Amino acid sequence: DKADPGHRAPPCLPSLPVLGSLLQLAGHSELHTCFTGLQARYGCLYALRLGSEYLVVVNNHLHAREVLFKKGKEFAGRPHSVTSDLMSRGGKDIAFASYSPLWRFLRKLVHTALSMFGEGSVALQKIICREAEGLCEVLAATQGAPLAMAPELTRAVTNVVCSLCFNSSYRRGDPEFEAMLQYSQGIVDTVGKESLVDIFPWLQYFPNKDLAWLRQCVKARDELLQKKFTEHKEAFCSDSVSDLMDALLRAKLNMENNNSRLEPGLELTDDHLLMTVGDIFGAGVETTTTALKWAIIYMLHYPEVQRKIQEELDQQLGLERRPQLSDRQRLPYLEATISEVLRIRPVAPLLIPHVALVDSSIGDYVIPKGTHVIVNIWAIHHDQDEWDKPEEFNPGRFLDEKGQRIYSPTPSYMPFGSGIRTCLGEVLAKMELFLLLSWILQRFTLELPAHHPLPSLAGKFGIVLQATGFEVKAVPREPERAGP
Ligand code: HEM
Repeated sequence: DKADPGHRAPPCLPSLPVLGSLLQLAGHSELHTCFTGLQARYGCLYALRLGSEYLVVVNNHLHAREVLFKKGKEFAGRPHSVTSDLMSRGGKDIAFASYSPLWRFLRKLVHTALSMFGEGSVALQKIICREAEGLCEVLAATQGAPLAMAPELTRAVTNVVCSLCFNSSYRRGDPEFEAMLQYSQGIVDTVGKESLVDIFPWLQYFPNKDLAWLRQCVKARDELLQKKFTEHKEAFCSDSVSDLMDALLRAKLNMENNNSRLEPGLELTDDHLLMTVGDIFGAGVETTTTALKWAIIYMLHYPEVQRKIQEELDQQLGLERRPQLSDRQRLPYLEATISEVLRIRPVAPLLIPHVALVDSSIGDYVIPKGTHVIVNIWAIHHDQDEWDKPEEFNPGRFLDEKGQRIYSPTPSYMPFGSGIRTCLGEVLAKMELFLLLSWILQRFTLELPAHHPLPSLAGKFGIVLQATGFEVKAVPREPERAGP
């Protein structure tokens, strides 16, 4: 046994051939709550075997920081799966690629590009505000009739990512845009199916029908990416790089011109460029849209929270001046609400699985190389020892006594992960959440249409923690009822 004398193996669940029996065993139907519940019997870190895979579930923030942050590099691997390989051409992207010099290079490149065209740039704020204005126009046009909100949110978020990646955006009804929405939905639906095979590659029981549909959607996505890529290549000018695709192209050309390789055998291929841009769509659209959906669902459940956000907006800006990013500090209650939404319904409740690249340890436990490590953010965000009444939706918990400064009352909070594989889009996502929500709530009160049931607060575990579809009634706010 290679185990350190002071180390021991984590408690292990009885061997189970399939996930179904695991869910039955725990009496739950959702994986994240199932893993949370199993702590009662096995403690906050335990192992299980599924088929030939050995995996460890981490439910506590101290262990999570050790995996993600302190030993981030040791746990920076990603498992292979049928669908992730399909979507990333065998890990030629960022999210599904295991730790490697090429992954590091791509991540840095995208990070730089995001900060150049995105975070902090006036241009991106303009783009998001344009989409926020579009959303408000749609809401106004309903004249109080029920509106399915999800497709509108998806459209707005997709357009932001399109601007960032391709420096282009779409009008409502543009056929290319509609096609893109359709295949994105196809990917989410298929990958998000009960089989969970994408996130959990040890579940290879994937119906062929779904896999065929997924192939078709990925093909449609790739054709569009290829078309954009060709257009960008033809028009490329290294002096005017204005989107992510150009930035990646420039990096590739520079490498070719300098004849420099990262390491022998490692080169930036067209596939890497395409899959990386595809990744930003994959990771950037569904996540942000889901967080927006949860925020609005909570507004419907807690009208008093919505009212408080509106009072703050009225006091700080009035009804006429549109919110800007520079107003974030003046709107702490809205910021706290966004934090609370991401706590109570974390978009990625089990992150993306990590893999131990070397023999390592977590706490006192020995973790052999190759172990899949699942970090249960759901458990970390609902830990009774860290959070007061964790099931309660309470934005105030993120504010100081004066209701002003926004801070996390415990380190048991990591909606975007942590460490070297932390979310690349955190800053962008927060910009979008702040601007889209503030623009909507400044002008409209969102209500439940008559005779509609409140949308469920129970998330459905899939590629993200999915919210159910719902409709809202948008009531315009009147100038005389508000004002600074
Ligand atoms: C990875 C959360 C939006 C790009 C992740 C991870 C989480 C996360 C939890 C996994 C971290 C890990 O495995 O340890 C979120 C949430 C979002 C959001 C809650 C919105 C509310 C975005 C956006 C983008 C993006 C807008 C694109 C610009 C990525 C990428 C990765 C990632 C590329 C993979 C990083 C890697 O594997 O190295 N995100 N994300 N995300 N996210 Fe996000």
